[in-house]
Amino acid sequence: MAIALNIIKDEHRSIAAVLHGMQELVRRIRDRGEKVDPRVFRAMLYYLDTFTERMHHPKEDRYLFDPLRHRGAGPDALIAELERDHAEGGNALRRVEQCLIRYEEGGEKEFPEFAGEVERFVEGYWEHMRKEEEHVFPLAEKLLSAADWDAIDRAFKGNADPLAADRDEKDFRKLFSRIVNLAPPPIGVGPASN
Ligand SMILES: [Fe+2]
Ligand SMILES: [Fe+2]
Repeated sequence: MAIALNIIKDEHRSIAAVLHGMQELVRRIRDRGEKVDPRVFRAMLYYLDTFTERMHHPKEDRYLFDPLRHRGAGPDALIAELERDHAEGGNALRRVEQCLIRYEEGGEKEFPEFAGEVERFVEGYWEHMRKEEEHVFPLAEKLLSAADWDAIDRAFKGNADPLAADRDEKDFRKLFSRIVNLAPPPIGVGPASN
């Protein structure tokens, strides 16, 4: 498999871990009445904003969807749908943030709306990643030429200057470990909720 597809797949695993954690925390509050430190939700949303909105999606648009579009009519509708998901991603994230603020400030009466928004958000995101892996990846492997792959892989490996890439990677690792440190077990290693 091309280097670029492996990178995207790895990124999907990290995103999925955060989404799963968010959904699980909401379920614990709802089903068991557990108290959860809201900082963990904020760290998760921050991760999704800085990592997926600003890095993952634009990279897919540019290095995967654009070259596929140049390969003809076959994948056009699918690509357009996924690009719409990307364009809508920021709004979806802000809806969750808004509901989180209301829940933090307004207390329990605001929880059902927050929980519902998280469920919708997480389900939508999974569906999006599933479409990419099940439909776009095989299409890319079928339609893109060796020269296309050379260009995509070079772009991913080269990814601007190595220092910037290193700094970004460290920042995201730090953010990821912050989520793990804040979240209660078994999602993370933070203090157990009660
Ligand atoms: Fe995507
Ligand atoms: Fe993706």
